[in-house]
Amino acid sequence: MELREAIGNRRSMRFLLPYKPVEPEKIQRMLEAARIASHWGNVQTLRAVVVFRDTAPKEVVDAIVAPVAGFQIRQAPVVIVWYLETAAVDEQSDRLRELLRAGALGFGEGKEEALERQLLPFFAGILDRLKLPGISEVDCGQGIAHATLMAFEQGLGTCLLGGGNTEKIRQNLGLPESCRILILQTVGYPAESPEAGGQRPRLPFEKLFQMNGYQNPFPRDPAVVDELRRDKMFQAPAPLPYREDELNYLKNALGIKGHGLI
Ligand SMILES: Cc1cc2nc3c(=O)[nH]c(=O)nc-3n(C[C@H](O)[C@H](O)[C@H](O)COP(=O)(O)O)c2cc1C
Repeated sequence: MELREAIGNRRSMRFLLPYKPVEPEKIQRMLEAARIASHWGNVQTLRAVVVFRDTAPKEVVDAIVAPVAGFQIRQAPVVIVWYLETAAVDEQSDRLRELLRAGALGFGEGKEEALERQLLPFFAGILDRLKLPGISEVDCGQGIAHATLMAFEQGLGTCLLGGGNTEKIRQNLGLPESCRILILQTVGYPAESPEAGGQRPRLPFEKLFQMNGYQNPFPRDPAVVDELRRDKMFQAPAPLPYREDELNYLKNALGIKGHGLI
């Protein structure tokens, strides 16, 4: 599948087939994709515990909850608990040396010395700050995005779920204090149509992006928009006419009580 269409096809799938297990190798491909995403200083803070509903101990399954639309967690055959290992930041010097040796950083004579005398001390001075929520989360997000696209490429659906008591989840899963739970990702075979009601609304392009300064909206070329529509990155907008019927059908089929919001 072309990248553009893959990006267009990705949308949050809240309704998954609870009875159809996900093959571990499909999850492995998601993790492999996450692993090669970029990270500042090649530090690689992104980690995950994958919980398979069928085989995980009950206390592990019970440990992962989400306050918003929590039915998704209860039904998903797999939940990936993505977390950030802040202790990885302590190994930053080794990662930078590896990068230099790999030819991915610096060039010419004296590069080793510049790394040891200038770059490493610079990072050493800000290590504690680099462990705080911020730049590493950006990188973890990139890895999770890779994994998400890989899931869709394999016919799986996923939804990210946050906002829960992440500290409690960390303790329940036995993760060290140096770990910060980022987000839960449900994974399974979609119970809803691939369109999932259509592409979800977004704020206007011009409101989001600027060129050469805050006051100047980035000019949006309609020809590019048409091209991306032809390439299926832009698809029919939600809601498709049958969406409400589809939602009612899914609610009944999956035995979801109430409105599904909490
Ligand atoms: C970081 C993150 C956290 C999210 N947390 C929740 C959540 O707690 N509950 C939920 O129902 N959806 C959650 N979502 C899904 C968003 O609501 C969804 O991405 C948004 O509605 C846009 O739809 P789309 O992903 O299909 O484009 C989350 C998405 C992201 C990226």
